[in-house]
Amino acid sequence: MNTENLSINARFAQDVDQGLSLKLKKLPSKYFYNKKGDELFVNIMHCEEYYPTDCELEILKNQSPDIIAACELPRKRVNVIELGAGDGLKTRELLKSFVQEQVETRYLPVDISANAVDGLVSKLKVEIPEVETTGKVGDYFEILNEVNATSERAKLILFLGSTIGNMTHEVAHQFVSDIAKNMQENDRLLIGFDLKKEPETVRAAYNDKTGYTRAFNLNLLERINEELGGNFDLSQFKHYPVYNPQTGTAKSYLISLCDQEVEISALNKTYAFEAWESIHTEISQKYSKSAIENLAQNCGLEVQRTFSDERAYYADVLFKKQAP
Ligand code: AVJ
Repeated sequence: MNTENLSINARFAQDVDQGLSLKLKKLPSKYFYNKKGDELFVNIMHCEEYYPTDCELEILKNQSPDIIAACELPRKRVNVIELGAGDGLKTRELLKSFVQEQVETRYLPVDISANAVDGLVSKLKVEIPEVETTGKVGDYFEILNEVNATSERAKLILFLGSTIGNMTHEVAHQFVSDIAKNMQENDRLLIGFDLKKEPETVRAAYNDKTGYTRAFNLNLLERINEELGGNFDLSQFKHYPVYNPQTGTAKSYLISLCDQEVEISALNKTYAFEAWESIHTEISQKYSKSAIENLAQNCGLEVQRTFSDERAYYADVLFKKQAP
């Protein structure tokens, strides 16, 4: 038996049991990303309503040379480490710019999805052979230390795509602090933040008309059915996203449409759902300028420069270590 798979599955089972045993049920959003989830997320990124991807692509297409200049790289060499690389479509713009500026570049994309990493690495080897690319599969929380292994080269750590939005402020703070602790004076950290904006625009982004986001959310239950022997009836759960303009937190829920029981054979357990009981599946935090400044302050970083799209929907913020 493949013990690696077993342990990943055991972890999934444990997380599902924990989340569904809470009074206010929840499931971790990282489990969205199996093969089907990756595909659905690509579809979401192409939806008219889902603006973050286009915004970040606009920033990286138009401002990559400025971002590189702001990195102030010694000896025109860099190790680019990307946490949660996904399909890496946007990062390609930045990597191409590094090549154009004749910066010697190594690229290490890290992602929870083996599927995404393999695809990205083989594409990049062909498209940008000048960059030395090596992929890594894993949870970026766990891989952080490994990733920060010392090198004489300056590091540029990328955490793009508003992935930080999936963390509560508390978790984001912990995570960014951990990165900051491993940064040297010449290192930089570029984080993609989705910004507060017209609330209807945010809401629509998590409730696209085509229904990809709905399918993405429900896929979590399907994955439990497939991998843990669950018997969720997907037609008895409703995708329900909300946005709180005050906190800037978008949340997605799956709501039980009736009284029902769900059996999960891998856990040898049954979970009861009352009609209209919800499972909280995802948070997508939107940031204000001051929230970004606070994050930097509290994590031992300073904002070096902010790169925004024309509509100011989104920002890629470049951080460096606070001067001692
Ligand atoms: C990949 C975390 C940036 O929260 O906007 C998209 C995931 N969920 N639609 C986001 C997502 C529903 C996305 N991130």
